[in-house]
Amino acid sequence: MDSNYWDEKYSTEEFIYTKVANRFIVELCGPLEVAGTKRAIELAGGEGRNSVWLAKQGWHVENVDFSQKALDKYLAFAKEEGVAELCSANCADALKFVPAFSPVELAVIGYLQIPEAQLEVATRRLASYVAPGGYLVGVWHSRDNLVSGFGGPRDPDVLPNVETITRALEGTGLTIEVLENREGQIQTKEGLKPSTTLVLLAKRGA
Ligand SMILES: C[S@@+](CC[C@H](N)C(=O)[O-])C[C@H]1O[C@@H](n2cnc3c(N)ncnc32)[C@H](O)[C@@H]1O
Repeated sequence: MDSNYWDEKYSTEEFIYTKVANRFIVELCGPLEVAGTKRAIELAGGEGRNSVWLAKQGWHVENVDFSQKALDKYLAFAKEEGVAELCSANCADALKFVPAFSPVELAVIGYLQIPEAQLEVATRRLASYVAPGGYLVGVWHSRDNLVSGFGGPRDPDVLPNVETITRALEGTGLTIEVLENREGQIQTKEGLKPSTTLVLLAKRGA
């Protein structure tokens, strides 16, 4: 799925992924304490539900996404929420992006559903911008969701598992603190159904 696909998907007033920050991002990023500046990159941040939430927690955030439509909605949302001065946008491909500021104390990646080999490249690239003492937080529909879960894409190649992310972080200097499947529920037309989400918290030593 290229950027035209995503631009078209985002060409509606409605916020496809809502304006509510993802609960795993909130859970993992909320308690993080860093010394000094609070700079963050969100990779594939789309319409910015997580970036705006991070800005409200005092982070200076750059949302990197290859959909300009999504980024336009994000910047308008940030203004609406009174955090425009903390929010910037970078329209770029996850495999090649160069952030406006780095290193950062926090890097976030949420639901970037691209082929596994590309996800490893994008994750390693994002990890390379994490400062000493900084964190990388990730969330994805898990490949294990195909077995007994609902929601998310059904193509295993765009669904990472623990092995995918472990491999992606090898040699990056980051230490994995949390990398696990979380069992939860998702709303479907037939009611609440089980859903498996892969979550990551990794840290670069100070
Ligand atoms: C499922 S949406 C998730 C958006 C956001 N993380 C959220 O949870 O609300 C996936 C996002 O990845 C972006 N994306 C997909 N492939 C990309 C790529 N190669 N480079 C940059 N962004 C990409 C899309 O534009 C889209 O905004």
